[in-house]
Amino acid sequence: MTDLKNRILAAVQEDLSSIEDALSGNLNPQLNLVRQVAGHLLFAGGKRLRPLLMMLSARLCGHADRPSAADTSVIFEYLHAATLIHDDVVDGADLRRGRPAAHHVWDPPTAVLTGDFLLARALSLAARTGLPEVIAVIAGITEQMSQGEIRQLAHKGDVALDEEIYMDVIRCKTAVLFQGACRVGALIAGATRQSAQALSEFGFHLGMAFQMADDLLDYTQDTAALGKKAGADLREGKLTLPVIYALRQAGPQDKLWMEALIRAQAFTPSDFDRLLDRLRFYGGIDYTRDLAAGQIRQAKQALFTFDPSPERRILEDVVEYAWSRAS
Ligand code: IPE
Ligand code: IPE
Ligand code: MG
Ligand code: MG
Repeated sequence: MTDLKNRILAAVQEDLSSIEDALSGNLNPQLNLVRQVAGHLLFAGGKRLRPLLMMLSARLCGHADRPSAADTSVIFEYLHAATLIHDDVVDGADLRRGRPAAHHVWDPPTAVLTGDFLLARALSLAARTGLPEVIAVIAGITEQMSQGEIRQLAHKGDVALDEEIYMDVIRCKTAVLFQGACRVGALIAGATRQSAQALSEFGFHLGMAFQMADDLLDYTQDTAALGKKAGADLREGKLTLPVIYALRQAGPQDKLWMEALIRAQAFTPSDFDRLLDRLRFYGGIDYTRDLAAGQIRQAKQALFTFDPSPERRILEDVVEYAWSRAS
């Protein structure tokens, strides 16, 4: 994992530094308060995975101008940051990127409005590309992500939530952003329809696997490693695939116990350990991992449309990295 991460970081060092420059250079708020609130999250680290995917996709399709690609790529970090700020308000989350969530440092209205500003910045930057298709992709992502979050919220604490709804939620809230980032990379490079489609599929499957891994990590990692609170999904009454599957397989007594825990949205450390044990016992962890593995395979498959190149290699490494998070 560390070797892989270091290899990726070494290969994308220049991209990451252009992304950092573009993130502060394009924010452009009139109010200092907006800069502070947006900056609180934006400049607290973060993997910059989405802008990076856009830049690598663009280069894979022959786009050679790094600074200009970086300026477009930050659309995806602004969108991501906006949805994280909103998501933390909705989820009542305490921590993000190892810092108190923006709505705790300021207040929920200030956080929500700053999220709105970031969404609008993303659209302004999309308009600056002069490509209607890029604008359509960004607007579409915003529609899908908000609906994904709304659908998830509507099912808060719902122990009957099934796999089909879960898949739709993670498609909307996570996969479409990865998909759009890769697609826009192809579009700004003037790639063929076939290449744009292949990258779009690549991003989609990577995004699905990434969210499944995030949902697994919520059960298997601690708070310090995550930079957000471990076990938060259960505390938020958010059913994710490991639980959905385990509930489907559980015997009546375990099922009742798990359902009561989810409804209560409160648990002791020993409740959590017992739940994790039940998730493993009923195969919820393995099942989620298997489904993530299927998405990983499809992401890799989509890259075969392209001839081998350093960019394809880095994208393959990013897929491996996403998989290493799930396993
Ligand atoms: C967190 O995304 C939200 C999900 C879609 C799971 P990341 O894990 O990419 O978060 P940062 O950007 O590195 O903080
Ligand atoms: C992903 O959902 C967040 C968005 C796509 C907005 P989660 O609620 O699982 O993300 P984390 O775990 O808070 O990062
Ligand atoms: Mg959340
Ligand atoms: Mg999560």
